[in-house]
Amino acid sequence: MISGKTIVAGIVGRPVAHSLSPLIHNAWLAAAGIDGVYVPFAPDAHGFDRLAKGFRGGAIRGVNVTVPFKEDALAAADRASEAARLAGAANVLLFEPDGRTVADNTDGLGLLRAFAVQAPQWDVQTGPVTVLGAGGAARGAAAALILAGAPKVFVVNRTVAKAEAVAAALGPKATARPLSHAVGALSVSTAVINATSAGLSGAESLDVALEKTQDAAVVMDMVYKPLETPFLRQARELGRPTVDGLEMLIRQAEPAFEAFFGERPPAGVDVRSLALKAL
Ligand code: ATR
Repeated sequence: MISGKTIVAGIVGRPVAHSLSPLIHNAWLAAAGIDGVYVPFAPDAHGFDRLAKGFRGGAIRGVNVTVPFKEDALAAADRASEAARLAGAANVLLFEPDGRTVADNTDGLGLLRAFAVQAPQWDVQTGPVTVLGAGGAARGAAAALILAGAPKVFVVNRTVAKAEAVAAALGPKATARPLSHAVGALSVSTAVINATSAGLSGAESLDVALEKTQDAAVVMDMVYKPLETPFLRQARELGRPTVDGLEMLIRQAEPAFEAFFGERPPAGVDVRSLALKAL
């Protein structure tokens, strides 16, 4: 039921129709009995700023932002958290009643919580981590790992110049490597994270051999469609512990929900099963 007090939040993306976020947030809202609603917005490719301006002043409480607008979201904000600034991107915008727009990035927290759930033995501070890719998702992951205390993050990309630019933005703990010479980084890392778009249903899969990784190295893929990518299958067949992208998606939604609706998501809602059915 929509009332005179309904809190409105949503997600901005292009495309947005297949996003699982409305399903996740609305399941939590219903279970908690919160008077709120979470809806999709799909501006045209250059329409993000217009949309964000329209939301200013508290027309709605806030939005999640997904591909391809996360950098635009940071640029549209008057104030940004350290996580958003270091990631160079925002996945959460809050529209304050005084007209200010505040940006945050909960993707990194989502990544770390997904590791805590699916690979609880792993400790970010004990050794280097390899992040594959150098787009927004990779930079966000590398930034979060550094903020969480990773002693070193290898940013490994097919186009090494892009990895170098990301490493330069992140400071001395980040080091760029070309994908063709990744084995040195892979063999010393406690975790290997695919933050490329390779492996997405329909796209070509990621050509990275994991044989030289350590036995205990945790392998994670941000891609969750399919849930078990060829990259994660390779890891499982080698006996490596794995973390999937769906867990990250759910865990980044938790702090976003709290920011929009003022309380934590209710316990006991199996949003993972709901999301799996919808995948
Ligand atoms: P996002 O913003 O989601 O991170 P992006 O900016 O389009 O996405 O970046 C996609 C990343 O996936 C890039 O790092 C890209 O490598 P290049 O910079 O060399 O293009 C990487 N990528 C995409 N397909 C790939 C493939 N088949 N093998 C290796 N890397 C791939």
